[in-house]
Amino acid sequence: MRRMRRLRKPGLLRMVAETRVSTDDLIMPLFVDERLKVPVKIGSMPGQSRHSIESLAEEVVELEELGVPAVILFGLPENKDEVGSGAYDPAGIVQRATERIKETTSKVVVIADLCLCEYTSHGHCGLIKKQEVLNDETLPLLGKTAVSQARAGADVVAPSGMMDHMVAAIRGALDDEGFCDTPILSYAAKYASSFYGPFREAAESGYSFGDRSGYQMDPANALEALWEVRLDIEEGADMIMVKPAMPYLDILRMVKDEFGMPTAAYQVSGEYSMIMAAAERGWLDGERAMLEALTSIKRAGADMILTYYAKEFARKEREE
Ligand code: PBG
Repeated sequence: MRRMRRLRKPGLLRMVAETRVSTDDLIMPLFVDERLKVPVKIGSMPGQSRHSIESLAEEVVELEELGVPAVILFGLPENKDEVGSGAYDPAGIVQRATERIKETTSKVVVIADLCLCEYTSHGHCGLIKKQEVLNDETLPLLGKTAVSQARAGADVVAPSGMMDHMVAAIRGALDDEGFCDTPILSYAAKYASSFYGPFREAAESGYSFGDRSGYQMDPANALEALWEVRLDIEEGADMIMVKPAMPYLDILRMVKDEFGMPTAAYQVSGEYSMIMAAAERGWLDGERAMLEALTSIKRAGADMILTYYAKEFARKEREE
């Protein structure tokens, strides 16, 4: 008789494990705030801080030493305006932070999140007219942002604003300026999710009216995600992302099976903070829950996972 339990013994479990999350799979999101001299803890995200340029550079050195392969940068500018000019300012916060990181580290891949929402006074991901987010008028600004980020030394740009044709616009702008080797990681299937809640505090990117359901995807839809991803690949995306991760594992699996592209999943702020908050209350074992969550995301098809737990994970892996 076949007994499935025969292999569920300590030494054997390790041998037959189909999925193992490694530090190599992880990308650490980091926040850099133009107004800060020293780091400030983010209340809604236990264990995470907003950095000054200097503390960010130190953090990236630590991550490099721990073997974390990549970081993704989110900027908080000193001033916001209607048109999000801080996003494409050559001396903007992400551009300066990238230059600083590149002075001190050589191995860590720097990914620049590419969106206007942290830089606009209204908090939306594009230009606004009569409370409407304008698609085509926003595209040149995204192209400009990409070029300024690449010029500052970003290894990858990651458009997260869900504007139609953003990948084509960015690819065109990068190629025109000689950055034909800069890859695009597109937030291709990004859902309008309440799990971004804690990030809004972290990045001060709450919006002054409406919500993002006019441009981000409806959680009810799966086949639409395949279209989103297909179009981004056709426009030149080198890597694609599904976001959030755990509530959308079905999407992740479909996308991976359909396209077989380098696929990232973003374990977003709400997914992270739910586990951390429950662990603080002793309601679950935070470390085990986090490992289980990350394992499920990898099992569902992610080659890369953006997670706020990346540093802690790397530290634990090192201790083993
Ligand atoms: C927008 C952006 C958001 C996140 C990453 N990029 C917020 C949003 O779309 O509202 C969320 C990340 C997280 O929750 O961890 N540029």
